[in-house]
Amino acid sequence: MTDINPDQIGAGKPQPLEWRDGDMPYSTAFGDHFYCQTDGRLECGHVFLAGNGLPDRWSDRPTFLIGELGFGTGLNFSETWRQWKLHRRPGQHLHFMSFELYPMRRAEIDRALARWPEIDAERQALAALWPDGPEGIVALDLDGQTRLSVVCGRALDGVAAAAPGFDAWYLDGFAPSRNSDMWSEELMRLVCEKTAPGGSFATYAAAGFVRRNLAAAGFAVERRKGFAGKREMLCGVKAQ
Ligand SMILES: C[S@@+](CC[C@H](N)C(=O)[O-])C[C@H]1O[C@@H](n2cnc3c(N)ncnc32)[C@H](O)[C@@H]1O
Repeated sequence: MTDINPDQIGAGKPQPLEWRDGDMPYSTAFGDHFYCQTDGRLECGHVFLAGNGLPDRWSDRPTFLIGELGFGTGLNFSETWRQWKLHRRPGQHLHFMSFELYPMRRAEIDRALARWPEIDAERQALAALWPDGPEGIVALDLDGQTRLSVVCGRALDGVAAAAPGFDAWYLDGFAPSRNSDMWSEELMRLVCEKTAPGGSFATYAAAGFVRRNLAAAGFAVERRKGFAGKREMLCGVKAQ
């Protein structure tokens, strides 16, 4: 699956997927699941939130910008929004900007997220506002303190065009062995360039070439214990 050229498929086309074990979406384009089969919501908390020092880092920030490579089902967004609502103070604002080649349809997002009663409210709110034909930049003000932007198209193009100032990154682009485009040195350099001083990244990936690309891009990379028996994951901060 590594030879997929996103240009051949075309940005904005529907996500090619099938359902396994009832409600588990599986990408037929990339030959991978969208999240770990143990529990994707808990994995999000372990890898992406804790790996970026969240929710603690929210405490003294009037605004916070999270970038994500790969919106998929919106699970990471929904779990982050849930935790944000528990920890935020009045006046604080979160912007979650995700980059996605194949935006899912509303019914697919709804079906995938219905597995977790913990994010029922977030699933319903997201599905209610999600457009029928997502394209360009889908910008949703989900509540007075939370904005979601999904930039449709190749992550490389979207991140290149984005303004700098990202405080944290969720790198979630399928297994590196199946989608090397989402872990290229070129993309990791752009991610680092667009990161604010003191900003961070986290990912479940632990492949050597991903670690080297992130380090070459300018991150101080740390290895941590992965989720649910995975030996390692990576996280780190932008080196000064
Ligand atoms: C592991 S899934 C993301 C899961 C997601 N974060 C969630 O919460 O459900 C990877 C996503 O990356 C997207 N993707 C793959 N290659 C891409 C590319 N070159 N640019 C942008 N998105 C890409 C896929 O369409 C897929 O939705």
